[in-house]
Amino acid sequence: MSDQHAQKQAAAKAALQYIEEDMILGVGTGSTVNCLIELLPTIRLAGAVASSQVTEDKLRALGIDIIDLNFAGTLDVYIDGADEVNANLQLIKGGGGALTREKIVAAASKKFICMVDDSKSVEILGRQFPVPIEVLPQARSYVARQLVQMGAEPVYREDFVTDYGNVILDTYDLDVSDPSALEQQLNNIVGVVCNGIFAANQADVLLKASSNGVQVLTR
Ligand code: 5RP
Repeated sequence: MSDQHAQKQAAAKAALQYIEEDMILGVGTGSTVNCLIELLPTIRLAGAVASSQVTEDKLRALGIDIIDLNFAGTLDVYIDGADEVNANLQLIKGGGGALTREKIVAAASKKFICMVDDSKSVEILGRQFPVPIEVLPQARSYVARQLVQMGAEPVYREDFVTDYGNVILDTYDLDVSDPSALEQQLNNIVGVVCNGIFAANQADVLLKASSNGVQVLTR
């Protein structure tokens, strides 16, 4: 399995073992999750909580009932991809801009299953992939200045609005050597809605696909 798409498909197939009939499943966003969504019609679900409008539309198109998280209670399982993952199963997410809704559904779930191809594994988060930060539109410049003061380089994601009507600053050169501390520090900047470091809501299980198959890592 050298091909990245084949690896995503293999990770998605491996995720099926965590899904039980008649459960309400939390479903993430992105191309890896799309591989999973294609497989979902083989399982009878009570419904799904979607982490983005895009995912919601795809699930509906397959006839899967969409449940509002407010009426779903605590979910047993949330399955999603990631942009980067470290050895502690801490993540950077938000490449697709759905980080806030993804973090909410992950937080409301007992188990977060993360599916990645082997290009996503890193020693230290944030060296290659920027940290996406969702910001209230009015606070964009203020938050950007605070990030520059931290030695980072925020880049406004042009022509993109989140499901919640906010904007994204893709932020390079942050020191992510302590993901939990940085996640909190970024949340403390006024105007920040959410950031793409998933340390408090890290994965519980990592399905890592490579040319050797799918490795299951737990914490
Ligand atoms: C979307 C995300 C995705 O999980 C992340 O971008 C990975 O995407 P892909 O599976 O397409 O590589 O966080 O906001």
